[in-house]
Amino acid sequence: MFETLREGSETTASGTVGAGPDAATRPSGPEQRNARPEAGRFAEFFAGIGLVREAIEPLGWRCVFANDIAPRKEEMYRQRFGDEHFLLGDIHDLGVGDLPPRLDLVTASFPCIDLSLAGNRAGLAGRHSGTIWPFLEIVTALCIQRTPPSAVLLENVTGFLTSRGGADLADVCRRLAAVHYVIDVLFVDARWFRPQSRPRLFVVARQREDGSPWSRPGSQPSRLRPAAVRRFEAAHPDLPFVDLPMPAPPDETPGTLASILENLPPDDARWWPEDRAAALVTRMAPRNRRRVDELLAGERDGVATMFRRRRNGRTVGELRPDRLAGCLRTPQGGSSVQFLVDCRSGATRIRPLTGREYARLQGADSFPIEVNDRQARLGFGDAVCVQAVRWLVRHAFGSDCRTAHNPPGSFNETVAARYPYAPPTSGRGEQQQPLFK
Ligand SMILES: C[S@@+](CC[C@H](N)C(=O)[O-])C[C@H]1O[C@@H](n2cnc3c(N)ncnc32)[C@H](O)[C@@H]1O
Repeated sequence: MFETLREGSETTASGTVGAGPDAATRPSGPEQRNARPEAGRFAEFFAGIGLVREAIEPLGWRCVFANDIAPRKEEMYRQRFGDEHFLLGDIHDLGVGDLPPRLDLVTASFPCIDLSLAGNRAGLAGRHSGTIWPFLEIVTALCIQRTPPSAVLLENVTGFLTSRGGADLADVCRRLAAVHYVIDVLFVDARWFRPQSRPRLFVVARQREDGSPWSRPGSQPSRLRPAAVRRFEAAHPDLPFVDLPMPAPPDETPGTLASILENLPPDDARWWPEDRAAALVTRMAPRNRRRVDELLAGERDGVATMFRRRRNGRTVGELRPDRLAGCLRTPQGGSSVQFLVDCRSGATRIRPLTGREYARLQGADSFPIEVNDRQARLGFGDAVCVQAVRWLVRHAFGSDCRTAHNPPGSFNETVAARYPYAPPTSGRGEQQQPLFK
């Protein structure tokens, strides 16, 4: 479990399980959440259970709107943040009139199913990941009908970079560029902050200002902008890429898998019966059986995570060879639950990771969990890593990202000339009573 964080540090790990994570930065009520000077007002699209909000409210950002389509996510979101702001519904049905005024940042960690290697690779033409388009319509409408938000943040799997040979990401960047954003494409892995391997691509867009200090992108690859990102930038000289002044990310993972585990009693019903665990080990490929033997010998703290796979019509177990959890996934979309193989007692015991362990791996240690493990895994498996987003937003946007909110329409002519924008027909539209003030 992770010790209390001091402002400026992202994570420290003590290696012991217990409570008290993130207390210094964890918002615990509306007045505490907004105790810091306001960095800006943000709207969280594809909000899920709200881990973007969990990440950035402690930096002084104020959430004024959240949207998601999934009632089970909404339930968890409300249990954490209360009843304000969340609008349950399909993003295709949203119009600018549904949004509160004065937005400085809009975020979208949109569905990954069509972009992930495990999915169908339909790309942004797919039904799920294609929900980025109505989001970009909303961003464009905000820019035209109101004042452009200072910043836009997108998050998805790294397959976003390569989908349709980079054409999908380029299309998205073109849309943002058309409404005067400059763009930094960044790779951030949750393992820099938590013991979970979770590489993700972030698209950070900032409104372009005359004489803005942003540097043109360099050509040198780095951990934040690896060679594949540099190749993508070089292949699209028409797009306004920049290198935001980001520090180097942390070198080492704070904590290990063992440090986030709950201490379940041996008779807890979630442990598999001995014979079931033994049967799975027997069916494992030699490499995985060797990993179990290493755990029994005390290597890697005696624990590892495991996914079940179908191989030649049989279910087998595949263990990670390091002290990290694999990338958490939502149990929907063909992906599966992550299991713990625990050999610390001298026997091989197996159980699914708990909802609380999923929460800890996503850096949401003290998020209230009032739903069953299955729903919690659904919510946290699909979410963002809190510390990764906090680190990125802190460094990409600083402590004040407020937009100078000009009167609506002041941006219109330039943008309208550059972007063939047609107002969405499905949204409730500006003319109706806004749901949020
Ligand atoms: C990757 S998850 C985002 C998780 C979220 N950032 C969090 O921290 O929990 C994508 C989310 O998009 C939502 N979603 C999918 N289709 C949608 C749609 N048509 N309209 C609104 N939300 C949608 C899903 O319910 C899911 O919660």
